Amino acid sequence: MKKLNIGLFGFGVVGEGIYKVLEEKPQLNATIKKIVIKDLTKPRNAPSELFSSNADDILEDDDINVVVELISDSDAAHNIIVKAFNKGKHVVSANKKLIAEHHKELLELQDKNDVSFLYEASVCGSVPIIRNLEEYFDNDLLNYVSGIVNGTTNYILTKMANENESYQDALKAAQDNGFAEADPTADVEGFDAASKISIITLHAFGQKINVDDVIRKGITSLQVQDFKYAKEKGYTIKLIAKSKVNPETGEINSTVLPTFVRLNKTIALVNNEYNGVLIGSSLSDEQFLYGKGAGRFPTASAVLSDISALKYDYKYSIRKYDNTQEGKFNQSGKLKA
Ligand code: HSE
Repeated sequence: MKKLNIGLFGFGVVGEGIYKVLEEKPQLNATIKKIVIKDLTKPRNAPSELFSSNADDILEDDDINVVVELISDSDAAHNIIVKAFNKGKHVVSANKKLIAEHHKELLELQDKNDVSFLYEASVCGSVPIIRNLEEYFDNDLLNYVSGIVNGTTNYILTKMANENESYQDALKAAQDNGFAEADPTADVEGFDAASKISIITLHAFGQKINVDDVIRKGITSLQVQDFKYAKEKGYTIKLIAKSKVNPETGEINSTVLPTFVRLNKTIALVNNEYNGVLIGSSLSDEQFLYGKGAGRFPTASAVLSDISALKYDYKYSIRKYDNTQEGKFNQSGKLKA
Protein backbone atom coordinates (compact mmCIF):
# COMPACT_ATOMS: atom_id res chain seq x y z
CA MET A 1 0.00 0.00 0.00
CA LYS A 2 1.29 3.44 -0.96
CA LYS A 3 2.52 5.55 1.98
CA LEU A 4 0.93 8.97 2.11
CA ASN A 5 2.89 11.82 3.71
CA ILE A 6 0.47 14.66 4.14
CA GLY A 7 0.98 18.41 4.36
CA LEU A 8 -2.12 20.02 5.83
CA PHE A 9 -3.13 23.62 5.20
CA GLY A 10 -5.50 24.87 7.90
CA PHE A 11 -6.20 23.39 11.31
CA GLY A 12 -9.82 24.28 12.03
CA VAL A 13 -12.36 21.76 13.25
CA VAL A 14 -12.17 19.64 10.10
CA GLY A 15 -8.35 19.65 9.98
CA GLU A 16 -8.10 18.73 13.63
CA GLY A 17 -10.61 15.90 13.17
CA ILE A 18 -8.57 14.51 10.28
CA TYR A 19 -5.34 14.73 12.28
CA LYS A 20 -6.96 12.80 15.14
CA VAL A 21 -8.36 10.05 12.93
CA LEU A 22 -5.03 9.54 11.13
CA GLU A 23 -3.19 9.39 14.48
CA GLU A 24 -5.61 6.78 15.78
CA LYS A 25 -5.57 4.65 12.63
CA PRO A 26 -1.97 3.87 11.64
CA GLN A 27 -3.34 1.12 9.40
CA LEU A 28 -4.39 3.89 6.97
CA ASN A 29 -0.66 4.38 6.29
CA ALA A 30 -1.15 8.13 6.02
CA THR A 31 0.72 10.54 8.29
CA ILE A 32 0.46 14.29 8.70
CA LYS A 33 4.05 15.57 8.42
CA LYS A 34 3.45 19.30 8.55
CA ILE A 35 0.57 21.68 9.22
CA VAL A 36 0.65 25.23 7.88
CA ILE A 37 -1.48 27.77 9.73
CA LYS A 38 -1.66 31.56 9.90
CA ASP A 39 -1.49 32.03 13.66
CA LEU A 40 1.32 30.12 15.36
CA THR A 41 0.51 31.57 18.79
CA LYS A 42 -2.90 29.91 19.10
CA PRO A 43 -2.90 26.75 21.29
CA ARG A 44 -3.41 23.61 19.15
CA ASN A 45 -4.24 20.00 19.96
CA ALA A 46 -1.20 18.57 18.19
CA PRO A 47 2.58 18.63 18.77
CA SER A 48 3.99 22.12 18.20
CA GLU A 49 6.83 20.87 15.95
CA LEU A 50 4.23 19.94 13.33
CA PHE A 51 3.20 23.56 12.81
CA SER A 52 4.63 26.22 10.55
CA SER A 53 3.39 29.45 9.01
CA ASN A 54 5.50 28.99 5.87
CA ALA A 55 3.71 27.28 2.96
CA ASP A 56 7.08 26.23 1.49
CA ASP A 57 7.63 23.94 4.47
CA ILE A 58 5.04 21.74 2.75
CA LEU A 59 5.37 22.70 -0.89
CA GLU A 60 9.18 22.40 -1.04
CA ASP A 61 9.36 19.20 1.00
CA ASP A 62 9.85 16.34 -1.44
CA ASP A 63 8.85 13.75 1.18
CA ILE A 64 5.34 15.20 1.32
CA ASN A 65 3.35 13.64 -1.51
CA VAL A 66 -0.17 14.84 -0.57
CA VAL A 67 -1.51 18.31 0.19
CA VAL A 68 -4.80 18.55 2.06
CA GLU A 69 -6.07 22.10 1.66
CA LEU A 70 -8.71 23.23 4.17
CA ILE A 71 -8.41 27.00 4.24
CA SER A 72 -11.23 29.44 3.55
CA ASP A 73 -9.33 32.03 1.47
CA SER A 74 -9.95 30.79 -2.06
CA ASP A 75 -7.20 32.87 -3.75
CA ALA A 76 -4.58 31.56 -1.31
CA ALA A 77 -5.96 28.04 -1.78
CA HIS A 78 -5.68 28.39 -5.56
CA ASN A 79 -1.97 29.35 -5.28
CA ILE A 80 -1.30 26.44 -2.95
CA ILE A 81 -3.02 23.91 -5.22
CA VAL A 82 -1.28 25.09 -8.40
CA LYS A 83 2.13 25.03 -6.68
CA ALA A 84 1.43 21.59 -5.19
CA PHE A 85 0.52 20.19 -8.64
CA ASN A 86 3.67 21.68 -10.15
CA LYS A 87 5.67 19.93 -7.44
CA GLY A 88 4.01 16.61 -8.31
CA LYS A 89 1.88 16.43 -5.17
CA HIS A 90 -1.67 15.09 -5.02
CA VAL A 91 -4.27 17.47 -3.60
CA VAL A 92 -7.43 16.98 -1.55
CA SER A 93 -9.60 20.06 -1.11
CA ALA A 94 -13.03 20.99 0.25
CA ASN A 95 -13.05 24.49 -1.22
CA LYS A 96 -16.16 24.53 -3.42
CA LYS A 97 -15.98 28.21 -4.38
CA LEU A 98 -12.43 27.87 -5.62
CA ILE A 99 -13.13 24.58 -7.40
CA ALA A 100 -16.26 25.90 -9.10
CA GLU A 101 -14.32 28.95 -10.34
CA HIS A 102 -11.24 27.07 -11.59
CA HIS A 103 -12.64 23.59 -12.13
CA LYS A 104 -11.49 22.80 -15.66
CA GLU A 105 -8.15 24.57 -15.29
CA LEU A 106 -7.35 22.59 -12.14
CA LEU A 107 -8.34 19.27 -13.70
CA GLU A 108 -6.19 20.02 -16.73
CA LEU A 109 -3.25 20.86 -14.45
CA GLN A 110 -3.91 17.63 -12.55
CA ASP A 111 -3.57 15.66 -15.79
CA LYS A 112 -0.56 17.63 -17.00
CA ASN A 113 1.31 16.91 -13.76
CA ASP A 114 0.08 13.33 -13.50
CA VAL A 115 -1.30 13.78 -9.98
CA SER A 116 -4.76 13.37 -8.43
CA PHE A 117 -7.06 16.22 -7.39
CA LEU A 118 -9.93 14.99 -5.23
CA TYR A 119 -12.67 17.13 -3.68
CA GLU A 120 -15.61 14.98 -2.61
CA ALA A 121 -15.93 17.11 0.55
CA SER A 122 -16.70 20.19 -1.52
CA VAL A 123 -20.18 18.97 -2.46
CA CYS A 124 -22.82 17.65 -0.02
CA GLY A 125 -20.49 16.87 2.91
CA SER A 126 -20.49 13.15 3.56
CA VAL A 127 -22.67 12.22 0.56
CA PRO A 128 -20.47 10.56 -2.11
CA ILE A 129 -22.03 12.38 -5.03
CA ILE A 130 -18.98 13.04 -7.22
CA ARG A 131 -17.63 9.51 -6.88
CA ASN A 132 -21.05 8.14 -7.83
CA LEU A 133 -21.37 10.36 -10.87
CA GLU A 134 -17.85 9.40 -11.95
CA GLU A 135 -18.08 5.66 -11.41
CA TYR A 136 -21.55 4.30 -10.91
CA PHE A 137 -23.19 6.33 -13.65
CA ASP A 138 -20.23 6.25 -16.01
CA ASN A 139 -22.04 4.26 -18.68
CA ASP A 140 -25.48 5.72 -18.15
CA LEU A 141 -26.98 8.77 -19.86
CA LEU A 142 -27.86 11.32 -17.23
CA ASN A 143 -30.87 13.55 -17.66
CA TYR A 144 -30.83 15.62 -14.48
CA VAL A 145 -29.28 16.01 -11.05
CA SER A 146 -31.51 17.78 -8.59
CA GLY A 147 -31.78 18.25 -4.86
CA ILE A 148 -30.80 19.87 -1.61
CA VAL A 149 -27.08 20.59 -1.56
CA ASN A 150 -26.85 23.17 1.22
CA GLY A 151 -27.28 22.03 4.81
CA THR A 152 -27.51 25.46 6.41
CA THR A 153 -30.45 26.67 4.34
CA ASN A 154 -32.19 23.33 4.69
CA TYR A 155 -31.84 23.61 8.46
CA ILE A 156 -33.39 27.10 8.35
CA LEU A 157 -36.22 26.05 6.00
CA THR A 158 -36.98 23.01 8.17
CA LYS A 159 -37.37 25.23 11.24
CA MET A 160 -39.61 27.64 9.32
CA ALA A 161 -41.76 24.82 7.94
CA ASN A 162 -42.03 22.57 11.00
CA GLU A 163 -41.74 24.99 13.92
CA ASN A 164 -43.24 28.14 12.38
CA GLU A 165 -40.05 30.04 13.16
CA SER A 166 -39.34 33.34 11.47
CA TYR A 167 -36.43 33.48 9.02
CA GLN A 168 -34.38 35.55 11.51
CA ASP A 169 -34.97 33.14 14.43
CA ALA A 170 -34.24 30.11 12.26
CA LEU A 171 -31.04 31.74 10.98
CA LYS A 172 -29.96 32.45 14.56
CA ALA A 173 -30.57 28.79 15.48
CA ALA A 174 -28.46 27.74 12.48
CA GLN A 175 -25.68 30.06 13.66
CA ASP A 176 -25.94 28.83 17.28
CA ASN A 177 -25.65 25.25 16.04
CA GLY A 178 -22.51 26.00 14.05
CA PHE A 179 -24.03 25.62 10.57
CA ALA A 180 -24.42 29.21 9.41
CA GLU A 181 -21.46 31.60 9.43
CA ALA A 182 -21.61 34.98 11.19
CA ASP A 183 -21.96 36.36 7.64
CA PRO A 184 -24.43 33.84 6.18
CA THR A 185 -24.61 35.38 2.69
CA ALA A 186 -22.94 32.53 0.79
CA ASP A 187 -25.45 30.01 2.11
CA VAL A 188 -28.70 31.98 2.35
CA GLU A 189 -28.33 33.74 -1.02
CA GLY A 190 -27.65 30.43 -2.76
CA PHE A 191 -24.03 31.12 -3.81
CA ASP A 192 -22.77 28.00 -2.02
CA ALA A 193 -25.41 25.86 -3.72
CA ALA A 194 -24.57 27.48 -7.08
CA SER A 195 -20.89 26.51 -6.69
CA LYS A 196 -21.93 22.96 -5.81
CA ILE A 197 -24.30 22.55 -8.76
CA SER A 198 -21.58 23.93 -11.03
CA ILE A 199 -19.16 21.23 -9.79
CA ILE A 200 -21.86 18.54 -10.07
CA THR A 201 -22.69 19.65 -13.61
CA LEU A 202 -19.16 19.15 -14.89
CA HIS A 203 -19.08 15.64 -13.43
CA ALA A 204 -22.58 14.73 -14.55
CA PHE A 205 -22.62 16.23 -18.03
CA GLY A 206 -19.03 17.19 -18.87
CA GLN A 207 -20.09 20.82 -19.18
CA LYS A 208 -18.77 23.77 -17.28
CA ILE A 209 -21.46 26.10 -15.97
CA ASN A 210 -20.04 29.30 -14.50
CA VAL A 211 -21.46 30.07 -11.09
CA ASP A 212 -22.70 33.41 -12.47
CA ASP A 213 -24.71 31.55 -15.13
CA VAL A 214 -26.66 29.54 -12.55
CA ILE A 215 -30.13 31.08 -12.22
CA ARG A 216 -30.14 31.73 -8.51
CA LYS A 217 -32.44 32.97 -5.78
CA GLY A 218 -31.80 32.59 -2.05
CA ILE A 219 -34.18 32.09 0.87
CA THR A 220 -34.03 35.45 2.63
CA SER A 221 -37.42 36.69 1.48
CA LEU A 222 -39.34 33.58 2.56
CA GLN A 223 -41.85 34.04 5.35
CA VAL A 224 -43.69 31.70 7.69
CA GLN A 225 -46.95 32.30 5.82
CA ASP A 226 -45.35 30.97 2.62
CA PHE A 227 -44.85 27.64 4.39
CA LYS A 228 -48.40 27.69 5.78
CA TYR A 229 -49.78 28.30 2.29
CA ALA A 230 -47.56 25.57 0.86
CA LYS A 231 -48.70 23.10 3.52
CA GLU A 232 -52.37 23.82 2.90
CA LYS A 233 -51.82 22.86 -0.72
CA GLY A 234 -49.80 19.72 0.14
CA TYR A 235 -46.32 21.15 -0.40
CA THR A 236 -43.29 22.36 1.48
CA ILE A 237 -40.54 24.73 0.29
CA LYS A 238 -36.97 23.60 -0.29
CA LEU A 239 -33.94 25.30 -1.83
CA ILE A 240 -33.45 23.07 -4.86
CA ALA A 241 -30.29 23.07 -6.96
CA LYS A 242 -30.81 21.49 -10.34
CA SER A 243 -29.01 20.86 -13.61
CA LYS A 244 -31.10 19.44 -16.39
CA VAL A 245 -30.46 18.53 -19.99
CA ASN A 246 -32.82 19.86 -22.61
CA PRO A 247 -33.45 16.67 -24.63
CA GLU A 248 -34.10 18.62 -27.80
CA THR A 249 -30.94 20.70 -27.82
CA GLY A 250 -28.64 18.99 -25.34
CA GLU A 251 -28.27 22.31 -23.51
CA ILE A 252 -27.84 22.30 -19.75
CA ASN A 253 -29.91 24.57 -17.58
CA SER A 254 -28.73 25.09 -13.97
CA THR A 255 -30.79 26.70 -11.23
CA VAL A 256 -30.81 27.25 -7.46
CA LEU A 257 -34.31 28.26 -6.44
CA PRO A 258 -36.70 28.02 -3.49
CA THR A 259 -39.15 25.45 -4.84
CA PHE A 260 -42.53 24.01 -3.89
CA VAL A 261 -42.02 20.29 -3.29
CA ARG A 262 -44.95 17.91 -2.78
CA LEU A 263 -45.01 16.62 0.80
CA ASN A 264 -45.11 13.01 -0.40
CA LYS A 265 -41.89 13.34 -2.43
CA THR A 266 -38.59 11.98 -1.10
CA ILE A 267 -36.95 15.42 -1.22
CA ALA A 268 -39.60 16.82 1.13
CA LEU A 269 -38.39 14.37 3.78
CA VAL A 270 -34.83 15.72 3.71
CA ASN A 271 -34.72 17.89 6.81
CA ASN A 272 -32.35 19.89 9.00
CA GLU A 273 -28.70 19.88 7.86
CA TYR A 274 -29.17 16.85 5.66
CA ASN A 275 -28.70 16.90 1.90
CA GLY A 276 -30.50 14.74 -0.65
CA VAL A 277 -29.80 14.48 -4.35
CA LEU A 278 -31.84 12.79 -7.09
CA ILE A 279 -30.01 11.53 -10.15
CA GLY A 280 -32.19 10.94 -13.18
CA SER A 281 -30.77 8.74 -15.91
CA SER A 282 -31.84 6.72 -18.89
CA LEU A 283 -30.92 3.27 -17.61
CA SER A 284 -31.56 3.49 -13.87
CA ASP A 285 -34.43 6.01 -13.98
CA GLU A 286 -34.18 7.89 -10.69
CA GLN A 287 -31.83 7.29 -7.76
CA PHE A 288 -31.46 9.14 -4.50
CA LEU A 289 -28.39 9.92 -2.38
CA TYR A 290 -28.93 11.17 1.15
CA GLY A 291 -26.75 12.16 4.10
CA LYS A 292 -25.33 14.89 6.28
CA GLY A 293 -24.30 17.82 4.13
CA ALA A 294 -22.85 20.21 6.70
CA GLY A 295 -20.85 19.97 9.89
CA ARG A 296 -17.30 19.07 10.79
CA PHE A 297 -17.62 15.29 10.95
CA PRO A 298 -19.40 14.78 7.61
CA THR A 299 -16.82 17.02 5.93
CA ALA A 300 -13.95 15.22 7.67
CA SER A 301 -15.41 11.89 6.54
CA ALA A 302 -15.42 12.99 2.89
CA VAL A 303 -11.85 14.33 3.12
CA LEU A 304 -10.73 11.02 4.65
CA SER A 305 -12.45 9.09 1.88
CA ASP A 306 -10.44 11.14 -0.65
CA ILE A 307 -7.23 10.47 1.25
CA SER A 308 -8.03 6.73 1.18
CA ALA A 309 -8.83 6.89 -2.53
CA LEU A 310 -5.35 8.27 -3.24
CA LYS A 311 -3.97 4.93 -2.07
CA TYR A 312 -5.24 3.28 -5.20
CA ASP A 313 -4.33 6.22 -7.44
CA TYR A 314 -7.96 7.24 -7.86
CA LYS A 315 -8.42 10.22 -10.12
CA TYR A 316 -11.41 12.08 -11.51
CA SER A 317 -11.66 11.95 -15.25
CA ILE A 318 -14.46 14.22 -16.36
CA ARG A 319 -16.90 12.14 -18.34
CA LYS A 320 -16.76 12.62 -22.05
CA TYR A 321 -20.40 13.39 -22.33
CA ASP A 322 -21.45 14.20 -25.84
CA ASN A 323 -24.90 15.61 -25.47
CA THR A 324 -25.26 16.82 -29.02
CA GLN A 325 -27.57 15.20 -31.51
CA GLU A 326 -24.48 13.86 -33.28
CA GLY A 327 -23.40 12.28 -30.03
CA LYS A 328 -25.37 10.17 -27.61
CA PHE A 329 -28.66 12.01 -27.90
CA ASN A 330 -31.22 11.66 -30.61
CA GLN A 331 -34.18 14.03 -30.95
CA SER A 332 -36.14 12.46 -28.10
CA GLY A 333 -33.25 12.63 -25.67
CA LYS A 334 -32.85 8.85 -25.51
CA LEU A 335 -29.66 6.98 -26.09
CA LYS A 336 -29.01 6.34 -29.74
CA ALA A 337 -29.30 2.73 -30.77
N1 HSE B 1 -22.14 25.90 4.25
C1 HSE B 1 -22.25 24.61 3.68
C2 HSE B 1 -23.64 24.04 3.89
C3 HSE B 1 -21.22 23.71 4.30
O1 HSE B 1 -24.35 24.54 4.76
O2 HSE B 1 -24.06 23.12 3.19
C4 HSE B 1 -21.03 22.39 3.60
O3 HSE B 1 -20.63 22.55 2.28
